[in-house]
Amino acid sequence: MIFGPLHTVTIEPSGLTIEVPNGERLMQAAREAGFWWPNQCDMQCRCTGCFVTVVSGVDHLSEMGRAEEEALLNQRGRRALENPVRLACQLGVYGDATVRKTGVRSGE
Ligand code: FES
Repeated sequence: MIFGPLHTVTIEPSGLTIEVPNGERLMQAAREAGFWWPNQCDMQCRCTGCFVTVVSGVDHLSEMGRAEEEALLNQRGRRALENPVRLACQLGVYGDATVRKTGVRSGE
């Protein structure tokens, strides 16, 4: 279990917000809050279906790891790495941020 402050991640264009414990991965926090997040590999860093485009707060997010970089490169090509695209299943949150992602649904 992760303790510490909660950060708010806003999902565009829906305007949904997710409270993320410090250091937790975005998709994990979303699931724990009852959200459905598009994906095909259940957070195994293979499908890249969980990708988001970072709109703001990039300094509040974890650095991209090797597995995430390789997954994006293999599944979406080098151009994906030239954009602020990240995998929500790998993305640690350390402050407020806004990302763009369609298809995220709240559990309500
Ligand atoms: S859930 Fe498949 S790569 Fe993130």
